[in-house]
Amino acid sequence: MEIRDDVREGFEKKLRKEPTYVFSDEIKIYCKMKVLVATEKPFAKVAVDGIREVVEKNGYELALLEKYTDVNDLYKAVADADALIVRSDKVTKEVIDHAKNLKIVVRAGAGYDNLDLEACTARGIVAMNTPGQNSNAVAELVMGMLVYAVRNFYNGKSGSELMGKKLGILAFGNVGRNVARIAKGFGMDVYAYDAFMTADQINATGMATAVANQDALFETCDIVSLHIPATAETKQSINYNLVGKMHKGGILVNSARKEVIDEAGLLKLMAERTDLKYITDIMPDADADFKAFEGRYFATPKKMGAQTEEANINAGIAAANQIADFFKTGNKKFQVNK
Ligand code: 3PG
Repeated sequence: MEIRDDVREGFEKKLRKEPTYVFSDEIKIYCKMKVLVATEKPFAKVAVDGIREVVEKNGYELALLEKYTDVNDLYKAVADADALIVRSDKVTKEVIDHAKNLKIVVRAGAGYDNLDLEACTARGIVAMNTPGQNSNAVAELVMGMLVYAVRNFYNGKSGSELMGKKLGILAFGNVGRNVARIAKGFGMDVYAYDAFMTADQINATGMATAVANQDALFETCDIVSLHIPATAETKQSINYNLVGKMHKGGILVNSARKEVIDEAGLLKLMAERTDLKYITDIMPDADADFKAFEGRYFATPKKMGAQTEEANINAGIAAANQIADFFKTGNKKFQVNK
């Protein structure tokens, strides 16, 4: 049976709200919207169970694609998906081209540099993130990595303590503030800079002392923790000159994105400055070169800041709820492609 486009669109709108549409006693149209969770790095099972509960409670169907290694599997899986939940999975124009029914994609997490927003917008697809849902997990990992670094990677040699050290937080969003909160518990002096906040706004949080600019943060602090997104402005911005401003024994911690680091510049600096340490949750492209700085470099084998059951539950279920809310009420609160 041929269905006119305007009629189909009308039905789709109604079916988003109520999956069973009674046209008449004889004609009942039943359709389940499909929500695909595509995660190369899977959520904890308990989080997937929670997502399933939300999806099914709302009358939708859940499809799962986990640990995929071939992008063709993603292309196949999105072909009939109405909604998509991802983590750092790349949602490129090609993925969008294969997703003919897609209406919404939610990045279960904070950074959405993995979504091709232009391609989404061109197709009228709403793109969202779930800000704040995994930030405590990332902040706890930062502090764990810091203890590991100042204790010489637990090699048995005498290390140092975090108490009384100056911690600089670059970008004072959800993760940055959680880092500040925990660092205060360690007795650290916390400083912050955020290009999108005034000094008064930072100081008003009572969690950090604002510094005038990025340079001042590196000049002032013993440790700098990066919480900037990867954007055209920030890519490669953490470079030789900037990190070189840190005083002796400086530690750079990265739980943000590898793209913000000018790797060649940092390698050059670490070769010259044998006192500096680089600790990262995102393996650099030049991992092999950084490994030459034994005792001064550590990278997690796979990004794991947000890899806790709690963060997976928070971000995954928030994503599922945002999708249901969007379909039922049109709520676009967390839209990032406006
Ligand atoms: C984020 O942007 O939310 C974090 O970097 C976590 O990313 P992940 O979901 O790939 O672990």
